[in-house]
Amino acid sequence: MKAVLSKEPGGPSTLVVEEIAKPEPKKGEVLVKVKIAALNFFDCLIIEDKYQFRPPRPFSIAAEMAGVVEAVGEGVDGFAPGERVCGYLPTGTAREFITAPTNVLSKIPDGVSDEDAACIMVTYGTSYHALKQRADLKSGETLAVLGASGGVGQAAVELGKIMGANVIACASTNEKLEFCRECGADEVVNYTDEDLKDRLKKLTGGKGCDVIYDPVGGDFSEAAFRAIAWEGRFLVVGFASGPIPKIPLNLPLLKGADLRGVFWGTFTARQPQDNADNISDLLGWLADGSLKPHVDSVFPMEEAAKALDKIASRDVKGKVLLRVAD
Ligand SMILES: NC(=O)c1ccc[n+]([C@@H]2O[C@H](COP(=O)([O-])OP(=O)(O)OC[C@H]3O[C@@H](n4cnc5c(N)ncnc54)[C@H](OP(=O)(O)O)[C@@H]3O)[C@@H](O)[C@H]2O)c1
Repeated sequence: MKAVLSKEPGGPSTLVVEEIAKPEPKKGEVLVKVKIAALNFFDCLIIEDKYQFRPPRPFSIAAEMAGVVEAVGEGVDGFAPGERVCGYLPTGTAREFITAPTNVLSKIPDGVSDEDAACIMVTYGTSYHALKQRADLKSGETLAVLGASGGVGQAAVELGKIMGANVIACASTNEKLEFCRECGADEVVNYTDEDLKDRLKKLTGGKGCDVIYDPVGGDFSEAAFRAIAWEGRFLVVGFASGPIPKIPLNLPLLKGADLRGVFWGTFTARQPQDNADNISDLLGWLADGSLKPHVDSVFPMEEAAKALDKIASRDVKGKVLLRVAD
């Protein structure tokens, strides 16, 4: 079978597509024929050995996928050949076949496309976990999202609206903010041209934001924290801009506010049932049309390097997908 492989550390151009052996499902595993593999920002980091874990090489990129069950291993209940499934692995779905334990797979409801199903695990899974389990976001609260046109940011904007929040999208260009409006944002802030703290305060009538969702880091984190409401919750999601900010601890003290870490991958391992419930909500919203993922582009698997380069160069609005099979 064909697989996109990282065989040496480096940028997207180091990726190759090669033939490798097709896997066999072991006890408790499902063999899935992958149709769509979805990319994320962290795929850029993993291939450069800059992510939280380093898979042994050669490994395949892409943590999430949609496909069809090809076979099941001994002891597998609840999945049968021919069923459409989506799922999440730490990495490695950009290949024609994968094996996965049943607890990371979900059945795709009728009427939901492979493309949409492949999109929802990491970005929507992370943002829903962040807003639900970590922030306890309530209807009527104000949610500010930094990097709001990016993968997890865009998901946070859409889910914030579904959860009844007033959503302020913050991003670096007016074009990106226009996209955030299309995703449902009520208000927007261009943090290249405007002072983030002042604008967030102004938009909330001086009260500040109840929840701040930050996947960007750098200087924006402290500026945003200075516009948090009394008893606000600041979600530490990622550091896409590079620098890990150091927040002065007088800021949470003065606002009676919380800094709350979000680590979706570990959440899925430690609270599998809560994660399964979250994914079930997300698939339900896909099926009833409340959630409509934005696919930026779909590349053939052979053009994985080009696809990842698009993410690395910040030229993406929504998800970048690899078509592995028709
Ligand atoms: N905690 C978790 O469980 C979890 C799960 C998934 C992802 N993450 C992390 O969340 C972060 C964002 O992931 P993503 O998939 O949303 O990425 P993405 O689609 O590339 O979006 C990141 C956004 O960050 C902003 N940004 C600012 N400086 C940047 C820079 N130098 N390079 C790239 N982007 C920059 C960009 O928006 P503007 O141009 O508008 O500023 C961009 O839209 C990453 O650090 C990722 O590792 C964390």
